Amino acid sequence: MEMILSPSMLSADFAHLEQDLRAVMQPGMKYLHVDVMDGNFVPNISFGPPVITCVRRILPDAVLDVHMMVDEPARYIQDYKKCGADILTVHAEATKDLSGTLQAIRAAGLRCGAAINPGTPVSALEPVLSLLDMALVMSVNPGFGGQSMIPETLDKIRELVVLREKMGLSFDIEIDGGVKLSNLDQVMDTGVNVIVAGAAIFHGDIEKNVSDFQSRMVMR
Ligand code: DX5
Ligand code: ZN
Repeated sequence: MEMILSPSMLSADFAHLEQDLRAVMQPGMKYLHVDVMDGNFVPNISFGPPVITCVRRILPDAVLDVHMMVDEPARYIQDYKKCGADILTVHAEATKDLSGTLQAIRAAGLRCGAAINPGTPVSALEPVLSLLDMALVMSVNPGFGGQSMIPETLDKIRELVVLREKMGLSFDIEIDGGVKLSNLDQVMDTGVNVIVAGAAIFHGDIEKNVSDFQSRMVMR
């Protein structure tokens, strides 16, 4: 499967967001990971549609990979469609009706993803795997950028790879949290194909960070 790097703009410097976003979108880059937090599902509040509308204006061609850390996200599908999301990923823990929410995202014309927290087993996604464009395995507890990866979560990616094969499905598998150059090989060995990185991309020299990740990822 194609290896995709999805930089998390949560770690950008919002005082010059446009500059940081342009620095990240070098040749070969398509995805931007956009973390929406409601202060309820997670203890932090990030940003919502007005900011994403501006991001879409700056990056008209990017794939906006929107990660909804929000309770009952079905309430907001139309809002996020309007502001330019391409993929909407919702948490299994955040809704009473995961499959209905995923179907509503699909019906709105967006790609749909489902995420699980470090403490949530893969079995929480099993009933909806055939509905998914993407499964997101959180490798930190959601809410904040710059945390250390919880290595035990990598086993769940391996489990999903096996299930996907067994079921003849083709959804992407994304990892989110604590990925950096020093654990990238360990991460890629799991079979994951969409890699989120926040602090490791946006802190320091963004262009160098992107090209370091890219060169390690194309060697695969
Ligand atoms: C955490 C967010 C992540 C975060 C990743 O709740 O979902 O996307 O921005 O940042 P790093 O790569 O710094 O752990
Ligand atoms: Zn995220």
